[in-house]
Amino acid sequence: MQNDFVNGKISVITGASAGIGAAIAKKLAAMGSRCILIARDPSRLKKVQDEIAAAGGKAESHPCDLSDADQIEKLTRTLLQAHARCDILVNNAGIGSFGSPLHLTDLAEWERTIAINLRAPYLLLRAFAPGMIAARSGHIINISSLASKNPVPNAAAYAASKWGLNGMMVSAAEELRQYQVRVSLIAPGSVQTGFGSGLAAQKSSLGAIQPEDIAEIVALLASQADQSFISEVLVRPTLKK
Ligand SMILES: NC(=O)c1ccc[n+]([C@@H]2O[C@H](COP(=O)([O-])OP(=O)(O)OC[C@H]3O[C@@H](n4cnc5c(N)ncnc54)[C@H](OP(=O)(O)O)[C@@H]3O)[C@@H](O)[C@H]2O)c1
Repeated sequence: MQNDFVNGKISVITGASAGIGAAIAKKLAAMGSRCILIARDPSRLKKVQDEIAAAGGKAESHPCDLSDADQIEKLTRTLLQAHARCDILVNNAGIGSFGSPLHLTDLAEWERTIAINLRAPYLLLRAFAPGMIAARSGHIINISSLASKNPVPNAAAYAASKWGLNGMMVSAAEELRQYQVRVSLIAPGSVQTGFGSGLAAQKSSLGAIQPEDIAEIVALLASQADQSFISEVLVRPTLKK
């Protein structure tokens, strides 16, 4: 259903080809936003784009590898030329590898995790925040994780990226709120997607959060009246495993 706060807004959603990002894109599109879908795989992006179009929404696909700073720079330039602004940025794309203690974690894996989960949100904020500041409006919504609140043995690089994301974004929130630009964090527990070898997906539907549950929270955040914002949401599955 269209929503006055979201209708006509330009939303950029990373990791929009699957899981949580696809659910967020479908939800924001249903609320009347034009959704810019970002991920690597063009065919998976196109599928989500087609599903949004079939439901009467507006979306466009922009394949980009977010581990590559040059690709991000090129993409953001293209998007700003085409749309002149980004109203809602959802930093959702993320990777996680689980199974190795930190002392056995490859440098390449460490760097890739930090590049996608932490550096890309910084580069995207850096590209889009100036336009939001000029407009005195904008919302940057970051999909963190409960791994940013707890020790996560055998996933220390992932935990570091998400603790880092929280620290970076609560700091940016303080920098940007004076311009009426809002920055929020959503930290879910296990969500039923293909993430991290699909471990969360193996749980029963009551034991894992659904991607649509996170999309509902993004919708709530994005449609809040101007004078306040929800800075952080922690989301837990109702049943513990
Ligand atoms: N699922 C969970 O249990 C869970 C819990 C807490 C937090 N989260 C967080 O939620 C976010 C989304 O997770 P999800 O469960 O939806 O995962 P997912 O189903 O694996 O989807 C990940 C998305 O990110 C994209 N992506 C991965 N690497 C990329 C890259 N280098 N460049 C651009 N896009 C890339 C993927 O598309 P391509 O492969 O086509 O690039 C896909 O669209 C992540 O930040 C994750 O940390 C997930």
